[in-house]
Amino acid sequence: MGYSDQFFKALDITKGKGGNLAKFAKQCGLTAKKLKYYNEHNVVPTGLDLENILKTGNISELLLRLKMGRLDKDIIEAIQQNADTILPLVDSHTASVESPMVECSLEFETELGKLYKGDCYELLKSIESDSIDLIFADPPFNLDKLYPSEINDSLRTEKYIHWCQEWIKECSRVLKPGGSLFLWNLPKWNAALTSYIEGMLTFRHWIGVDIKYSLPIQNRLYPSHYSLLYYIKGDKPNTFHPDRLAMDVCSKCFRELKDYGGYKDKMNPAGINISDIWTDIPPVRHAKYKRRKGSNELSLKLLDRIIEMASNEGDIVFDPFGGSGTTYMAAELKGRKWIGCEIGPADIIQDRFELIDEEREILEGYRKGINALFPEKTRKEREKRDLWTCETVRKKKQSDLFDEKS
Ligand SMILES: C[S@@+](CC[C@H](N)C(=O)[O-])C[C@H]1O[C@@H](n2cnc3c(N)ncnc32)[C@H](O)[C@@H]1O
Repeated sequence: MGYSDQFFKALDITKGKGGNLAKFAKQCGLTAKKLKYYNEHNVVPTGLDLENILKTGNISELLLRLKMGRLDKDIIEAIQQNADTILPLVDSHTASVESPMVECSLEFETELGKLYKGDCYELLKSIESDSIDLIFADPPFNLDKLYPSEINDSLRTEKYIHWCQEWIKECSRVLKPGGSLFLWNLPKWNAALTSYIEGMLTFRHWIGVDIKYSLPIQNRLYPSHYSLLYYIKGDKPNTFHPDRLAMDVCSKCFRELKDYGGYKDKMNPAGINISDIWTDIPPVRHAKYKRRKGSNELSLKLLDRIIEMASNEGDIVFDPFGGSGTTYMAAELKGRKWIGCEIGPADIIQDRFELIDEEREILEGYRKGINALFPEKTRKEREKRDLWTCETVRKKKQSDLFDEKS
């Protein structure tokens, strides 16, 4: 959608019929297309473009930056040093921008969780400070998608960022000291949010989750990862027990896909340390899930991993954006309490809980394949083919020791 004309407004440029865009462009020796680019991306020009624009607009760089909301270190330092003087101005501004919200009501309850229908910001306001152990949030991506809730998914860029900042601030308030916040979004949006969150929480990881989500675009790299931001409140997480992963092996011959050279005996039989690049999370495209159309369902495997890593049984998990309820399902199956919210129809979430046994099977299937270097099936297949396993390597090492001693 682009930004809302802060650049043009700062320079008194008007677009459309009878506007002065073409005249301004001619006077400063730039094309109207270039000026539109600065406006659309709210980019402060640099170099010769900046000199020419400032001269034509008869404005200083400082005033241009202030009007565009692009604060540099000089402006930030001036604000810090004059905070008391500025306070009444900022106070009166915040009071005037409160917007109406959709009220929340309890939609349904399970043994461990509660799902509310309404605006998550409203629900957040009612949650006690420092009370939640883990928050996972997968908001709409502002891609002009039609959600069953018919929310506006094509906000102006700065409006979308401000909206995210509002609910993230509330999430930070309700998070327990030592609690974890995970944010799932496109890299572009998560990159824009990091410096704001940095002021409230402690950065742990930018996890790249390898899922292709669009067709290749000309003159661009192929978009192949979602960003999963991981923050904690305070300096130490209360809970951190990441799963360990199985070694990648060929599905036909069961040989390892990477060469681990002479380090076989040093490998942990419990599996490989998980990294900040996750390549084993499947997109949810299965025909079976078509009934949850439009809900942008994430894989249960993703939520299983996050919940396992950053919470314990009995902890409280909160997800402000329900969709098809993947977080709530994973939390319920893993014995965590949960609080959920969905602004649109929530019946798909309730229906999903009717089929909880199917979901349990899927989850158990995932968990069978982790926390062992060679899970049961792989180990048996490797033994049949005389390939090394943790057991054979250890046996060999012991006999080497014996040889050395004798
Ligand atoms: C990307 S989907 C979440 C998908 C979910 N993670 C899953 O795996 O099924 C985002 C959801 O947030 C809902 N939503 C958007 N704005 C909301 C708000 N202010 N409060 C609560 N829910 C909201 C949308 O209706 C949509 O269902």
